[in-house]
Amino acid sequence: MQDGRTTLSKYLIDTLDRQPSPVAATGLSALLIDVAAAIKTISATLTKGALSGNYGSAQSVNTHGEEQKKLDVATNEIFVQHCEWDGLLAAMVSEEMDTVYTIPSTYPRGEYLLAFDPLDGSSNIDINGVVGSIFSVLRRTGDQEAPVSEADFLRPGHEQVAAGYAIYGPSTMLVLSVGNGTHGFTLERDVGNFVLTHSDIRIPEDTGEFAINASNERFWEPPVRRYVQECKDGRSGCRERDFNMRWIASMVAEVHRILMRGGVFLYPRDFRTPQMEGRLRLLYEANPMSFLVEQAGGVAITGRERIFDVAPRALHQRAPVILGSKNEVERIQRYHSEYDRGEDKPYTSPLFNKRSLFLPEAST
Ligand code: F6P
Repeated sequence: MQDGRTTLSKYLIDTLDRQPSPVAATGLSALLIDVAAAIKTISATLTKGALSGNYGSAQSVNTHGEEQKKLDVATNEIFVQHCEWDGLLAAMVSEEMDTVYTIPSTYPRGEYLLAFDPLDGSSNIDINGVVGSIFSVLRRTGDQEAPVSEADFLRPGHEQVAAGYAIYGPSTMLVLSVGNGTHGFTLERDVGNFVLTHSDIRIPEDTGEFAINASNERFWEPPVRRYVQECKDGRSGCRERDFNMRWIASMVAEVHRILMRGGVFLYPRDFRTPQMEGRLRLLYEANPMSFLVEQAGGVAITGRERIFDVAPRALHQRAPVILGSKNEVERIQRYHSEYDRGEDKPYTSPLFNKRSLFLPEAST
């Protein structure tokens, strides 16, 4: 399929509906076209900026206790309205909804499950910075007539049938995978079509760029401190080359940069978060982004295991996330194993000179 000529609908119909066994993906193309319609509506709303009347706090908190912005609530509603009616979904979960949203009985019910974060990186809204939407699609297993429950969504990442994100930057892009590579579509605003512009994205295996919120350094585990310190040491340290650092505070923007030119993104386990699960959510942030990264030849881990192998225990569970260029992510995984086996003793850092997990701040 040719870049610049293929619309999203053409791509999906060709890829999913005209395959030798289309039954496996029945309805998925139509569902993804509805998701794309939600994204176009969100893009149009965001483009209006403060003029949309949607700026500021919604005076409520989400399930994580974080302040909801009016746009968090509005974009969640846009996703629900565009996707609930088509008879393809059984239920949805989102960062902005505490519990499973079962498709109301006024609509036919389908076999897919949609998990999404309607407005990722929403702290960037007030500064007119880059934000995104992330989504993941699962197929429901078991008795399709039974009421949908939380358990239906608690499935490991490798069971996803599609995943993607929208990035709302200078242009709006939809980056998508249905399991045959990761492909990027750019919104042609005047026409309203998503057009294939980045087919078969590949993440370079090597990189000189990493992204991490360095203000959390005192809460990180030693293998992450070791990796970041070595990058910062640059050509005078053991890596013998300089690294660059980026932090946009929007996972979509970080992952997009990595898909475009390589790099590593870390939101690792830390002593600040409950059960040291890191900050990002497994079902609608870590899993879909891992799908896109792996389909583009990158690697996505928690530090110790592939994100895809994490068995979810709760809808809004968090997970540590380290993803991006293969050789760097594998190096970070090796640092975790060396640390766990006690083989990294020669490493010392002026910032961290004891192995104890219980740093003074960890107990506060
Ligand atoms: O949803 C979480 C998120 O906004 C991500 O998009 C982003 O990577 C991260 O939080 C930013 O975290 P911090 O506030 O620590 O910079």
